[in-house]
Amino acid sequence: MISKRRTYLVIFAVLFCFLAPFILAPVVIWSMIHFFDYSSSPRSKSPFPEAHQRAVNSFVNSAGFGFYRMAKSEHWNELSLIFEDTVYHKNTLHLIGLTPELGDRYFEEDAPEKRKLPEAKHRPLTKEEAEAIAKIHAGAPWVHLPAPPYEVYQGELEQIRVIAPIFAQQSCLECHEVKEGTLLGAFDYWLYDPEKKVSDQN
Ligand code: HEC
Repeated sequence: MISKRRTYLVIFAVLFCFLAPFILAPVVIWSMIHFFDYSSSPRSKSPFPEAHQRAVNSFVNSAGFGFYRMAKSEHWNELSLIFEDTVYHKNTLHLIGLTPELGDRYFEEDAPEKRKLPEAKHRPLTKEEAEAIAKIHAGAPWVHLPAPPYEVYQGELEQIRVIAPIFAQQSCLECHEVKEGTLLGAFDYWLYDPEKKVSDQN
């Protein structure tokens, strides 16, 4: 005799097989659209200031650089960007905290999320980084630093660092006790040129 429980199980299994494609299809289509968005314009080759603005938005508007950001056009999602007429690909992105309350500190983790900062590992700034920050305090829109080559399986690619500021806006002041326009932090972008092998330069 077939038990009632087994009958329900069979009905459930049949229904599931029928409905699963209808439930999964929108998810798959949504993912494809956003993957396409991710790998093509405007998420590639954006001018550096725009890309930086999106990185700042991602950091301050929400929990950070989580997966959800892929769906939002105002959030950082860059694969490549244009800096000083060259297309660079992103290697890593680091936060430099410059708040009066917590002092100057460098977060080694790639694209850290704000909510994880209290436990995140950080170190003091190097001399080079502190000098870059001094230039930003003096009004530089960003500072370009040399970086060691980026190692890929075919060899080494030219890499640069760009440090760019995060200023306090009105919306920041409810938590950060500073004046509007105060430098609260910076991003340190490590960018490599996929076209330029280090040995090519010699
Ligand atoms: C709701 C409160 C809140 C608002 C609003 C806010 N922040 Fe923050 N911010 C925090 C907290 C909390 C931390 C983490 C502090 C820690 O590491 O313990 C932080 C950390 C930071 C840091 C890193 C500093 C460091 O050394 O950890 C920067 C940079 C920063 N905020 C910039 C901004 C900017 C720019 C805005 C406005 C656009 C802003 N924040 C708005 C609460 C806020």
